[in-house]
Amino acid sequence: MKIVVYGAGVLGSLHAARLHEAGHDVSLVARGERLTEVQEHGVLLAEGDSPTIRSVPVPVVEDAAGGCHLILVVVRTHHIDGVLESIARIDGDVLFLLNWAAGPGPLGSAIGAERVLLGFPAVGGTMDGEVVRYRSASLLTRLVSMPIGEPDGRTTPRLERTLQTLRSAGFRAKAEPRMDAWLRTHAAFEVPLGQAVHGAGGPEALAGDPDAIRLMIHKIRRNLETVPTPTVPRAFTLLRSVPDGILLPLFRRFLRSTVAAPLSPVTPAISAELDRLDEQLRTSARTRSTGLS
Ligand SMILES: NC(=O)c1ccc[n+]([C@@H]2O[C@H](COP(=O)([O-])OP(=O)(O)OC[C@H]3O[C@@H](n4cnc5c(N)ncnc54)[C@H](OP(=O)(O)O)[C@@H]3O)[C@@H](O)[C@H]2O)c1
Repeated sequence: MKIVVYGAGVLGSLHAARLHEAGHDVSLVARGERLTEVQEHGVLLAEGDSPTIRSVPVPVVEDAAGGCHLILVVVRTHHIDGVLESIARIDGDVLFLLNWAAGPGPLGSAIGAERVLLGFPAVGGTMDGEVVRYRSASLLTRLVSMPIGEPDGRTTPRLERTLQTLRSAGFRAKAEPRMDAWLRTHAAFEVPLGQAVHGAGGPEALAGDPDAIRLMIHKIRRNLETVPTPTVPRAFTLLRSVPDGILLPLFRRFLRSTVAAPLSPVTPAISAELDRLDEQLRTSARTRSTGLS
């Protein structure tokens, strides 16, 4: 399978490396210093804090050309415009693996609605210099699957093919028929959480500030009002009705746990992504309230 991966950051590099190792014909699109790094050293991978670093010689390009079977877009939300321009010039189905709360419409308008698949990465990590440090698999992460779906929820041959391709590289991909609702629900929760963590200076600091947590819960509820119902996963609906008195201690416990550690530090790219997602959520709230959707 000929695959192009846009975005040589943490997850684009990881997906490109694993797909390359699984025997697919992969090109990784990179820019700036990152392009030179991957050209010279390959994609450098390490699990968690491990001192063992391995290099995967993924072919890297500055821009993709011609056709391919599948394009993965693994960039930050606010990066998307530049990538769409480039993708519009090449052929192939496009799987958007990123935080996105604006629905498939703007993506389809730029590249052709029939090309769009939506998904979200189920792995995590950070850049340590030029090394991608991916999160070690835990009991929890082994239970989490990578949701992928057609914008209209159908099961199509290309969706099955894409799931198989990702599974061949070791990703626990599963079909999600309500992918847009999944992404909007996720953003409705993640944006207030990320911004509150950022404002407080880290998860531990936020855990010690009950007023900031109450404000965050209020923003999550306000966002969830604008998300298609039922939420995906359904459990998020509980956040609308469970009283603050119960949610507050649960959030404080979560923020002090190791599960919340990846929320810190908030880099400029993460901060810009949260702002863009916030804007997308507010636009969709306005659209719903004026009955335009
Ligand atoms: N990292 C995680 O643990 C994690 C977990 C779950 C979900 N996610 C989501 O997955 C998505 C990707 O996250 P990430 O951590 O991989 O982001 P990242 O490390 O910031 O990587 C994004 C990469 O895309 C590159 N890029 C942006 N525009 C480009 C363009 N036009 N052409 C070529 N390259 C371009 C960026 O280059 P520059 O550096 O030059 O801007 C950067 O290398 C985000 O939506 C994120 O929220 C991340």
